[in-house]
Amino acid sequence: MRPRRFTANGPLKGRIRVPGDKSISHRSIMLGALAVGETRVTGLLEGEDVLSTAAAMRAMGATITRDDSGMWHVHGVGVGGLLQPQQALDMGNSGTSTRLLMGLVASHPITATFVGDASLSKRPMGRVIDPLSTMGAEFTASPGGRLPLTLRGLSPAVPIEYRLPVASAQVKSAVLLAGLNTPGVTTVIEPIPTRDHSERMLRGFGAELTVDVAADGARIIKVRGEAELKPQDIVVPGDPSSAAFFVVAALLVEGSDLVVENVGLNPTRAALFDVLRLMGGSIEELDRRDVGGEPVADLRVRHSLLTGIDVDPAVVPSMVDEFPILFVAAALAKGRTVTTGLEELRVKESDRISAMRAALELAGATVTETEDGLIIDGTGGDPLPGTAEGTSVVTHLDHRIAMSLAIAGIASKRGVEVDDTRPIATSFPVFESLLESARA
Ligand code: S3P
Repeated sequence: MRPRRFTANGPLKGRIRVPGDKSISHRSIMLGALAVGETRVTGLLEGEDVLSTAAAMRAMGATITRDDSGMWHVHGVGVGGLLQPQQALDMGNSGTSTRLLMGLVASHPITATFVGDASLSKRPMGRVIDPLSTMGAEFTASPGGRLPLTLRGLSPAVPIEYRLPVASAQVKSAVLLAGLNTPGVTTVIEPIPTRDHSERMLRGFGAELTVDVAADGARIIKVRGEAELKPQDIVVPGDPSSAAFFVVAALLVEGSDLVVENVGLNPTRAALFDVLRLMGGSIEELDRRDVGGEPVADLRVRHSLLTGIDVDPAVVPSMVDEFPILFVAAALAKGRTVTTGLEELRVKESDRISAMRAALELAGATVTETEDGLIIDGTGGDPLPGTAEGTSVVTHLDHRIAMSLAIAGIASKRGVEVDDTRPIATSFPVFESLLESARA
């Protein structure tokens, strides 16, 4: 464990640049590994989760290297060309690696065992086991459909039409990636839109992929299998989920005026910034541009008094990872913030509803837990009291809980003691040093 007390240390000023998007980084390694030839990736997130994906793709035959300039080079094996890994694939803390790679393995004639850390080993995999079994893959999973599990892929697999029972980009992507090496057309119907990086990138690599919108608003995504992917040059935009911590920090700490550069603003990801603006947050978009087929801008954020709101559950999929930090913002807002429709938060790296309720309470916030969300009565702009000496909040191996409480700490009187900062390295290894530089 690596505990740390995060304390107030003045306003956030100047300009910072957040690292590459985690979702896009995973996908660039996976699709690069399936293309024939060399894919070059700049701005890749070098966090533990993405490195788990890279190690797994190497174990299945791809050549993946980083040069001194920080560019990553991926030499792929071609769709259908993944090799039998010689050892279990260690997914660490990463649900995205696990679920997407299960999709890839499912339609190859190989057998792979997936293992992970204590957090990942509690998370449900039934949501991908179900559709991938229909395509012909066979599974031996731990009780409750959990890791460790062994997957025997089938080639040729059977194309399916699958309507997503949960709004999950990971499940959607697992089926689409399995479809890449499956003869015919694989269809995913998505009643509620989730992040669309897989669709964008599959098209970019030359897969035949179409998206239609049904009368009821559902997205119908079709991918033609036995695809031939062409290597790409990819520039990964900054991760809005990482930017979120600094945006909220600047809103909460008096006197702050911070520019967060290079923030990806794909509409399926960026709802937090809209919600914060509705609460009265001053977040200005500068230099809106396109990076690697994704909208990007620099965000200028100034300290603002926030007002509590009822968050529309319709926005949940477009900010599913941002609720922990939104809860921190709400804890300092004027009045009450009500969130609903957050059932999925209970099966992330931790049960984020109960973990955030417990941690914010320890930091002195007024929080009520419901089945599907939190109700938070804010301080009206005053700093939180912070945690008592010798008391630390529990992060449950969850990077976003650790970072959210770090921000609560810098917006508190006494500071907040976080029990373990190690999980931060899964998605945002430079978080702590950026926090220092933004306050210098
Ligand atoms: C991700 C999808 C989301 C998100 C995760 C990354 C992805 O998970 O929480 O951090 O890259 O597809 P779900 O698909 O489980 O909602």
